[in-house]
Amino acid sequence: MKAKQMAGERAVEYVKDGMIVGLGTGSTAYWTIQKIAQKVKEGLDIRAIPTSRETKKLAEELDIPLVSLAEVKHIDLTIDGADEVNRDLNLIKGGGGALVREKIVAFASKKLIIVVDQSKMVDALGTFPLPVEIVHFGANQTLFNLEKLKCQAKLRREDEEIFNSDNDNYIVDCQFGQIEAPEQLNTIINNMPGVVESGLFVEMTDMVIVGNNQGEVSILK
Ligand code: 5RP
Repeated sequence: MKAKQMAGERAVEYVKDGMIVGLGTGSTAYWTIQKIAQKVKEGLDIRAIPTSRETKKLAEELDIPLVSLAEVKHIDLTIDGADEVNRDLNLIKGGGGALVREKIVAFASKKLIIVVDQSKMVDALGTFPLPVEIVHFGANQTLFNLEKLKCQAKLRREDEEIFNSDNDNYIVDCQFGQIEAPEQLNTIINNMPGVVESGLFVEMTDMVIVGNNQGEVSILK
């Protein structure tokens, strides 16, 4: 079994009857969603909140009962992937462009479990370009302001077209190399006019489940 599948499926052990569950986005969360669907077919009684259009579509195809965030006071557990995880369990997310919904759902959750393969574990965040979601108006100005933070900032494109998020915003990928103080950087970026949200998830994660290519899983808390 592949590392992402190992990690993604293991997290489903923490999903219990009656829970409201946040469903992450990406190729690792995919395995979580598949496993949850299997358990729902076997009688698991949950309602789920997807973090992207892609995940919503998958959950609907698999007949996982969904509920909107507007209808619930809190989410019991969210299981999501990440692009980088450091030793303090701080994250870079948004490689798939779903960082805003992912962060809203994670913030509303009592517990956040992150599922990754070993390659995502790093000593310091920042090798993976930090995704930042920005509004269309004044996008060039926002990009220049991000570059002032000493990163290489690039407007994300997909098949030559500028990438638009599920919220109809742009994403800027910011190559920092090494992020010394993630919390501080997150605050600075989020205080910038035009920025919707940064892909830094600081002090939000309760548990990280890491799969490796030997078929083993380790749990970090
Ligand atoms: C999407 C995300 C994903 O969770 C992240 O990109 C990891 O994806 P994958 O599990 O496919 O490597 O943040 O916005």
